Amino acid sequence: MKRRKFLAQSLIAATAAARTQNRGVLKAAPSKEKLRVAIIGCGRMGQYYAEVYRALPDTEIVAIAEWNPERRKVVGERFGVKALYQDAPALLKEVVPDIAAVITPTKFMKEAVIACAQAGVKGVSTDKPIAARLADADAMVEACAKRNIVFAGGNLQRARHETQEAGKRLVAGQYGKIRGASIHAFGGEISGGGCQHLSVLRLMTGAEVEEVMAWGSPAEALAKESDEGLSVNGCFRLSTGVMCSVFGTKTPYGGVDVWTDNTLVRWDWDAPQIYSGLDAKGARKRIEPNYSPFPWRHVIAQAGLRAGDDYLVASIKSFIEAVKTGSKLAISGHDLRQALEIAIAAKLSAQLGNLPVKLPLKDRSLTLYPSRYRWLGGDQSSNPQSAEDAKRLQP
Ligand SMILES: NC(=O)c1ccc[n+]([C@@H]2O[C@H](COP(=O)([O-])OP(=O)(O)OC[C@H]3O[C@@H](n4cnc5c(N)ncnc54)[C@H](O)[C@@H]3O)[C@@H](O)[C@H]2O)c1
Repeated sequence: MKRRKFLAQSLIAATAAARTQNRGVLKAAPSKEKLRVAIIGCGRMGQYYAEVYRALPDTEIVAIAEWNPERRKVVGERFGVKALYQDAPALLKEVVPDIAAVITPTKFMKEAVIACAQAGVKGVSTDKPIAARLADADAMVEACAKRNIVFAGGNLQRARHETQEAGKRLVAGQYGKIRGASIHAFGGEISGGGCQHLSVLRLMTGAEVEEVMAWGSPAEALAKESDEGLSVNGCFRLSTGVMCSVFGTKTPYGGVDVWTDNTLVRWDWDAPQIYSGLDAKGARKRIEPNYSPFPWRHVIAQAGLRAGDDYLVASIKSFIEAVKTGSKLAISGHDLRQALEIAIAAKLSAQLGNLPVKLPLKDRSLTLYPSRYRWLGGDQSSNPQSAEDAKRLQP
């Protein structure tokens, strides 16, 4: 009760202080106050974001844009938010939040991100995959960059606390010079899911992909406009000269390996494991990584999330910090754009008979659609979230 009363009082105070004289638009609050957050797209994933923002002491959710009227009402009640709108343009006419978290299906992200940037938010986040058409991803990145608006990437494994730390160690040369890298299980959804691998690869090597050579299967998947069911084998040449082998299926690993002469760092959808030196049999020896403790574990508990949701909390905390201090994002919209570009290049190379394809791609109209669910959302792909399920966090 006490907390609710406090939130209500601070909302009234912030509202009164921020209302501009002539347009009736609520402007962003000064930085000492709580950051005012709008959730745009409050379906399954949006509700996870909302749980984290509501649990954090330095943010409060002031508005929600949700297309589905029944779900809009339910999530408004669930998160105690009265400022409810159909979409980003409707919301921004009345509220300009400090932070906008865009978690609509991918098709609608560009319109929402650009509208938020034009309205003058301090930061806007998106999620994966960022777009289908490369030029749309460019437009989002540019709309934010030219206004100095923080453009964050969302719930990506790259943001995981330990993965960030492993990446920093590797790039700083703590394990020696990086000699090679590999991606494992780059199949099923090379954009919708593969952006996880590609973002971690760029983090742990500190490099960009400069050239792609790829083989894709099965032939029916290669002929489709989407990434559904496509498996890619190949090799990427990185800007540091390092070569990255790409395996379409599990090897049995399903993530990203990066190695030096003496050490292998393996991200396989969890905290990266580190192998250094050899055991008595001459095999790689796993060592204790000694990562610093995750500082936001209490937020996971407060938000009622699973332990495995730590990278969502890490991503949001990094976004908030970037808005407050200009610090580097753990995962940015730019990172998601790069991932889309590599996935498009890989499919193109495979379609052209494993022709080497150089990046950045000249043709920005190239397009790779994600699955129908990611592109259009559950309501339009026969997998809607029921009002009952939207009422509370699902186990
Ligand atoms: N990073 C991850 O781990 C992860 C996991 C799941 C989903 N996602 C991504 O999140 C996005 C959403 O997925 P989801 O599972 O939440 O789907 P969902 O269908 O459950 O939710 C999407 C919500 O957005 C609403 N919406 C659609 N268009 C809108 C618009 N123009 N304005 C406002 N609201 C709008 C829908 O009504 C729906 O409630 C997809 O792009 C998906 O790929 C990412």
